[in-house]
Amino acid sequence: MSKFQFPKEFTWGVATSSYQIEGAWNEDGKGESIWDRFCHSPGNIDNGDTGDVACDHYHRWPEDVALMKTLGVHAYRLSLSWPRVLPEGRGRINHAGLDFYNRLIDGLLDAGIQPFITLYHWDLPQALQDEGGWTVRSTADAFTEYADLVSRHLGDRVNAWMTLNEPFVSAYVGYFEGRHAPGHASLDEMMSAAHHLMLAHGMAIPIIRRNSDGAEVGIVLNLGFTVPASPSEADMVATKRSDGIVNRWYLDPLNGKGYPTDITELFARPMEYVQSGDLETIATPIDFLGVNYYFRSIVRSEEIPEEENAPRTVFSNPDLTEMGWEVYPEGLFEILTRVHREYSFPALYVTENGAAYVDRVDENGEVHDPKRIAYLQGHLLAIAKAIKAGVPLKGYFAWSLMDNFEWAHGFSKRFGLIYVDFSTQRRILKSSARWYQGVISANAIEDV
Ligand code: FCB
Repeated sequence: MSKFQFPKEFTWGVATSSYQIEGAWNEDGKGESIWDRFCHSPGNIDNGDTGDVACDHYHRWPEDVALMKTLGVHAYRLSLSWPRVLPEGRGRINHAGLDFYNRLIDGLLDAGIQPFITLYHWDLPQALQDEGGWTVRSTADAFTEYADLVSRHLGDRVNAWMTLNEPFVSAYVGYFEGRHAPGHASLDEMMSAAHHLMLAHGMAIPIIRRNSDGAEVGIVLNLGFTVPASPSEADMVATKRSDGIVNRWYLDPLNGKGYPTDITELFARPMEYVQSGDLETIATPIDFLGVNYYFRSIVRSEEIPEEENAPRTVFSNPDLTEMGWEVYPEGLFEILTRVHREYSFPALYVTENGAAYVDRVDENGEVHDPKRIAYLQGHLLAIAKAIKAGVPLKGYFAWSLMDNFEWAHGFSKRFGLIYVDFSTQRRILKSSARWYQGVISANAIEDV
């Protein structure tokens, strides 16, 4: 058994997002978000669940900060609810909402925990959606107003900002697949939403830098590790497309390469909303890229019938999480080294990584989750390998601090290091939380 010692300055953290944990959906002047609207429309969420209460973090944040302190994390990646501070998305400020984040940030700093703030983790003010949401340019302008407001109020105490979480998911799952809010199904809307999200990101960077002196500013992408199911031409083409749609559509413009032409040709839609100067704005240099990674995608062509395609040669490892996602830690190593090789970001963080499993409270009131420990261990070994290979990886954030509202799956999928009993709001540290505490205090991982 050997041990990998992480660099001295390595940041260990946990992550959450506002809609998934806060609850208090209409308290103290908060405006409605597209997720409030989406969850309140029957049929969208498993079991009819909503984030109305979620983990009740809005009221229980002192307990949650204390739990983080117990874990020994250095940093906490949280997101702000835009309609909590700007109920209509722009204009009128809700000071009670700003006060909540002020108190939370002070509480974190008192506990010795650095806040890493995501501005947009999918809960767009419904008032902006009523004007077209991300499909219209004015939403990017509203985002700059929001970014300015919160970075002015919180910027003296926050050292790390992320503009967006997973713009691919916002645009693709929200505007094309319709499984997420706002639940639309249009390729044109997906494309314009993706563009305005990335534009909003680029426009906000200088504003955040101006208001939050010396802070690092970045963006978070979900990057897919895609491999062909067979060496057939059709599967190779399908894999390249999938990589283009999920990864390169975001990575390339951030790096000043514009939109990948194989994908603009594939979509073959007019992109009249791309105005001159937009691509330069999107390519505004950032301090870090946040990478979210969960599983590998084995891509099979849908263009030709299965029997005409070459036999599959790559099979999913049978080890799946409760989401049905393959456990494939090597993919994280591949993603990190690829991004470092092909793009130029000054630093990387793993901003989300984790697994959902069925967790149960046993007769002793404990929750033992050996599979989650194995998942995390495997992925930490993969990042250790990436660091050894020269990737400038500065930190790791486990998803998630605690069980929470998992979007279209509601409360049926538990990703937490901390178990939440949603009927009583009682929190219980799972074995994985104790294990993670040990990793952080040793700043090392055992290689098994
Ligand atoms: C990511 C999201 C996060 C959580 C995990 C499981 O795509 O950013 O909010 O739902 O998946």
